[in-house]
Amino acid sequence: MKSDKTREVAIKVVKAAALGATAKNEINTWKALAGKFNHPNILKIYTIYQSSSSMYIIMEYCNDGDLEGYLKKKKKITEDEATKVLQATISGLAYMNKYDIIHRDVKPANLIISKGVYKICDYGLCKVIDKKTY
Ligand SMILES: Nc1ncnc2c1ncn2[C@@H]1O[C@H](COP(=O)(O)OP(=O)(O)OP(=O)(O)O)[C@@H](O)[C@H]1O
Ligand SMILES: [Mg+2]
Repeated sequence: MKSDKTREVAIKVVKAAALGATAKNEINTWKALAGKFNHPNILKIYTIYQSSSSMYIIMEYCNDGDLEGYLKKKKKITEDEATKVLQATISGLAYMNKYDIIHRDVKPANLIISKGVYKICDYGLCKVIDKKTY
């Protein structure tokens, strides 16, 4: 059956050459994570394509910008809003932790906003940790 459904996506292009020696690790991390996470506070990755020079990460599109831009614009946020940011971040990180994954790059620029929901993005520095080491 044909579907008329369309969805907006964002595409992140990572040039392997620009990443140097870490490229292989980064690509493997992204590949391992694609499609694995399903949580409202984690940006959804749909697919990853790879060419000899770059990888293309196809993901959920969020059109409300990131928290860094929002904070710069607003200057101040309310206590309720700050609580919401923290709850979303902790909830997303706790979910990743179930997969023994640590993000290592949590910051306002890596929290993007979609319809009032904060989502952790940019898994470039993610690492799978060995339970025995902590
Ligand atoms: N899915 C998306 N929808 C809309 N905007 C996005 C999306 N993903 C990223 N962005 C915007 O692009 C910015 C940069 O994205 P991202 O953090 O993935 O890359 P980066 O910071 O350039 O990479 P790195 O941190 O590895 O150098 C984000 O801060 C956000 O503003
Ligand atoms: Mg980033």
